[in-house]
Amino acid sequence: MDFSSLPTPCFVVDETLLTRNLAILKDVADRSGAKILLAQKAFSMFSLYPLISRYLSGTTASGLHEARLGREEFPGEVHVFSPAYPPQEFKALLPIADHFVFNSFAQWEKYGAAARAAGKSCGIRINPECSTQEDGHAIYDPCAPGSRLGVTERAFRPDLLGGVDGLHMHTLCEQGFDALSETLAVFEAKFGKYLHGMQWLNLGGGHHITKEGYDREGLVACVRRLRETYGVEVYLEPGEAVVLNTGFLVSSVLETMQNGINIAILDASAACHMPDVLEMPYRPPVLDAGEPGEKAHTYRLTGGTCLAGDVVGDYSFDQPLREGSRVVFGDMALYTMVKTNTFNGMNLPSIAIRHTDGTDEIVRTFGYGDFKTRLS
Ligand SMILES: Cc1ncc(COP(=O)(O)O)c(C=O)c1O
Repeated sequence: MDFSSLPTPCFVVDETLLTRNLAILKDVADRSGAKILLAQKAFSMFSLYPLISRYLSGTTASGLHEARLGREEFPGEVHVFSPAYPPQEFKALLPIADHFVFNSFAQWEKYGAAARAAGKSCGIRINPECSTQEDGHAIYDPCAPGSRLGVTERAFRPDLLGGVDGLHMHTLCEQGFDALSETLAVFEAKFGKYLHGMQWLNLGGGHHITKEGYDREGLVACVRRLRETYGVEVYLEPGEAVVLNTGFLVSSVLETMQNGINIAILDASAACHMPDVLEMPYRPPVLDAGEPGEKAHTYRLTGGTCLAGDVVGDYSFDQPLREGSRVVFGDMALYTMVKTNTFNGMNLPSIAIRHTDGTDEIVRTFGYGDFKTRLS
């Protein structure tokens, strides 16, 4: 893939790759009867919502702003979940969202009557207390001890279920069908009896449905079984799986230097433009690069902020890097654009679409105004 004509830094999302993921999700939805929503927390590049909305049923939001974006830009259902709705936000959400998920029975008691009076579908988030994630990922585990996310079996209030239309659970992160299956067994044993007579079950996100090797047949059969057993609609709300491996962050080398190792300073930054690299942490793929020492020239790829730890990682290349060389990071659509920041006054990367005919359209550029208007 050629990225040489783009300005840098620049996020590029490839429509062909995105359409491939969307077709997989639509096929799962069609065959299972599930409704699939885009979790905007992972990806809110709304210039692509017209395309995505041809394949998915709607969006889910973490609060007012995402819900409003979904309502304005994405024809389809709008769902919202918040650990605790601020009163003003809840009021503003009422005309916008179709489904409200409450994190506790206290929130349900506080807001349920108003939501129902406005004709909204209401649900309770469950914590099945079934951790399936690898050790060390507690930050992404809503079932970790002490979690604030969802109602545990102990805190469940069957006496308050009148008017509750559905149950919601989100416990997975980048996981296969086996983890869903394991969690569902626990969920159904504890809460299945309450689902009969309800309208829907929302299985949250974290399903790596578009990843090679995901057991889609297992998922399709499971959704069908849930719909038949409980007579409910089943919702899935993946973020990551919608845009997995569809985006790139194109950067340029500003300078190379030596300090016992070869270092390349880029016009992109881990801290500002791909903060999950430091937060998660993880090593993003770099196009045409190998592990350190695998190819002839190894460099530490670093960002242009003052943070000593603004380091993406060590990678090797066939050719030496020099000023102006392009370094292209892969899988950069998810949890990147939505998490960028302007620390150090760093400019935000432009946003571009690579259309199916191979042409690039720059849909957004940023400047000083975007830095200044967030401050006062
Ligand atoms: C409630 C809820 N739904 C959906 C998602 C989307 O998850 P993913 O992007 O891993 O599919 C998240 C992610 O944190 C979430 O908290």
